[in-house]
Amino acid sequence: MTSTYRIACIPGDGIGVEVTAAARGVLNRAADRHQFALAWAEYDWSCERYLATGQMMPEDGIDELRQHDAVFLGAVGFPGVPDHVSLWGLLIPIRRSFDQYVNLRPVRLWPGVASPLAGRGPDDIDMVIVRENSEGDSLIGGRHGTGAAEFAVQQSVFTRRGVERIARYAFELAERRRGSVCSATKSNGIVHTMPFWDEIVAGVAAEFPGVAYEQVHVDALAARFVLAPQELDVVVGSNLFGDILSDLAAAAAGSLGTAPSGNIDPSRRHPSMFESVHGSAPDIAGLGVANPVAQILAGAMMLEHLGEQAAADTVRSGVADIVAEGIAVTRDLGGIATTSECADAIARAVSCPVTGEATVGPR
Ligand code: NAI
Ligand code: MG
Repeated sequence: MTSTYRIACIPGDGIGVEVTAAARGVLNRAADRHQFALAWAEYDWSCERYLATGQMMPEDGIDELRQHDAVFLGAVGFPGVPDHVSLWGLLIPIRRSFDQYVNLRPVRLWPGVASPLAGRGPDDIDMVIVRENSEGDSLIGGRHGTGAAEFAVQQSVFTRRGVERIARYAFELAERRRGSVCSATKSNGIVHTMPFWDEIVAGVAAEFPGVAYEQVHVDALAARFVLAPQELDVVVGSNLFGDILSDLAAAAAGSLGTAPSGNIDPSRRHPSMFESVHGSAPDIAGLGVANPVAQILAGAMMLEHLGEQAAADTVRSGVADIVAEGIAVTRDLGGIATTSECADAIARAVSCPVTGEATVGPR
């Protein structure tokens, strides 16, 4: 019997709409080839909806999503709606209601892509950022006073349970990779939460004697991303640090347009959500030039999470083939292809692999 996975798709705003449509085509091909089905339900939750109704998603939005095996999200945010409204009205409620406490952000320099870092090749950039996704900056705080006396306070929250579980996830992941974890800290400047983070991560590190561990101040670590990215395997960081470092890593790997991300509930009690690292890119929205690769790779992470490893591998090798050829790539990677031309080329590679079983046979 073929499995059918129920996927909630939220294209969102700007290029989110373009890249999710493109990526779905590729994922459907992978499903056909590996004999399972993706049943998509599309939701128009977006800034446009907010402007029309005053809400990013309906009251029962979370319950609606709960009935699916996974959520496939484009990007949310658009000029005209403040970014904190779109983020806290849609993305953050989903991440937190579903306890998607791991934000997994693999970054690699794909063969064929030029890094802005001089002399770097695919062997130099291959890391995973494990970003804590359920705590850190909170809504606790406010603005007080007026005029020159006005001030703002914002509280961050770190719990022992929260830090411990993200650290454990990072170390378990490192065991399956090159065996090293680097933890981003700032315990010299942030004197309560960061020493607390460091102490808990070091405690978890002690349970993994086979994994090399170091903690590095986030400012020095930012420099390391540029100067010695080859030293980084798994990087674990708080919500804020992980977010900043992942755009840095994606840029070092050639383009934000190739970086995928998974918001994962490792307990699998709730659906996990897959999206690109990039946002809705209003500057290029509607032009048809957005790179669909990040969203397609987010789809590969989704297939892997659903247990369809072979299909995920097929999608990744389709991306690798097309990116390495460098013909059907978008302009951020130096090509002239449109979003759909690039995705169609990847879809063809997925249905009919350039290398692999199709080439095996009697001559
Ligand atoms: P952005 O990631 O949307 O864009 C940054 C730059 O990268 C832009 O120049 C854009 O053209 C380029 N870029 C991004 N993705 C690309 C792609 N696939 N192909 C080619 N070029 C690409 O970040 P920005 O401008 O800070 O944010 C725009 C909006 O997106 C804001 O409203 C923000 O709040 C929202 N946002 C949403 C996220 C989400 O839904 N998870 C994440 C980040 C931002
Ligand atoms: Mg970000």
